[in-house]
Amino acid sequence: MRLGRHNLSQKPVFMAPMAGITDKAFRHMIRLTGGKYVITEMISDKALIYNNSKTFKMIDLEGEPEPRIVQLFGSEPHTMADAAKIVFEHGADAIDINMGCPTPKIVKNGEGAALLRDITLAEKIASTVVKSVPIPVTVKIRLGWDDSCINAPELALRLEQAGIAMLTVHARTREQYYSGNADWQWIARTKAGIKIPVIGNGDINSPEDAMEMIKTTECDGVMIGRGALGNPWLIGRTQTFLDNGILLPEPDNIERLRMLFIHFEQLIDLKGERTGLQEIRKHAAWYIKGVRKAADYRNQIMTVKTYADMKALFLHIYSLEGGTFDTLPNQS
Ligand SMILES: Cc1cc2nc3c(=O)[nH]c(=O)nc-3n(C[C@H](O)[C@H](O)[C@H](O)COP(=O)(O)O)c2cc1C
Repeated sequence: MRLGRHNLSQKPVFMAPMAGITDKAFRHMIRLTGGKYVITEMISDKALIYNNSKTFKMIDLEGEPEPRIVQLFGSEPHTMADAAKIVFEHGADAIDINMGCPTPKIVKNGEGAALLRDITLAEKIASTVVKSVPIPVTVKIRLGWDDSCINAPELALRLEQAGIAMLTVHARTREQYYSGNADWQWIARTKAGIKIPVIGNGDINSPEDAMEMIKTTECDGVMIGRGALGNPWLIGRTQTFLDNGILLPEPDNIERLRMLFIHFEQLIDLKGERTGLQEIRKHAAWYIKGVRKAADYRNQIMTVKTYADMKALFLHIYSLEGGTFDTLPNQS
């Protein structure tokens, strides 16, 4: 599949953009475990325009391999276009527009999934952003606002006419948030009506699920979100399975704990002790799923207050699982 000047895998597997998750450290973990395609967390167009320093850190793409895809959210064509220019100047190779975030705080500003209810504005935002930057613009949508208003096929056609290069469909409505099952049939119906590549998203938890989605919807690639939490290998394992049919083994507990350790070091390096410590907690809870006494460790992880104590706790769990120190990086 092609995305602008980039030749992607025949059936690319994308790590889903996830606010509070797909930061630079997590993107590194995905690539380290064999994944190729990642997208930043969603980034506010206005925060970029108003020079918010925290937001600028979110578009730090330094040292990351191509394609570097940044997701933006907003509700006004001209501010989205201005933000797109900023992101392009910071080295993005593609811009994804969020038209699916269901959170009330976002929707009430007319952003994210609110655009599913105003497809004229959605099309205008897409066409204005497409004209503002010389890189591909992609869009991520949901099926529609609610069951009574499923309009993904119609919106897809309008976005295609606006000039976008690829569309991701999360097969749920806004009203579903993340509950219920994703309805893959609508991915098939949306794909059938347009020519640009369609990436299917929703409820893929294994390489086999991804293959099943491709078979049943004829989508051009897949995107995985929650299944990769504490399990970044899922992206690379799924890519390998789609590329050549090889089902790589799942990581064992020792490997999961080793990656947790690397992830922690990355977060500390990038965000400092206070924020790094705070942010590793949720990831650690996911990584240690399946480890003996995980519930006890989870409680301890939530109360540890320093980098040194957290590191000692991770090392303790790691060695109890049989991990050895010669395979653990950064031991000094
Ligand atoms: C914690 C969390 C944060 C998310 N943040 C974003 C986001 O920033 N942008 C976006 O387009 N979707 C976001 N999503 C939706 C995911 O990208 C994805 O569409 C959804 O989780 C369905 O895929 P899955 O069933 O594989 O998890 C988020 C989902 C979760 C659970």
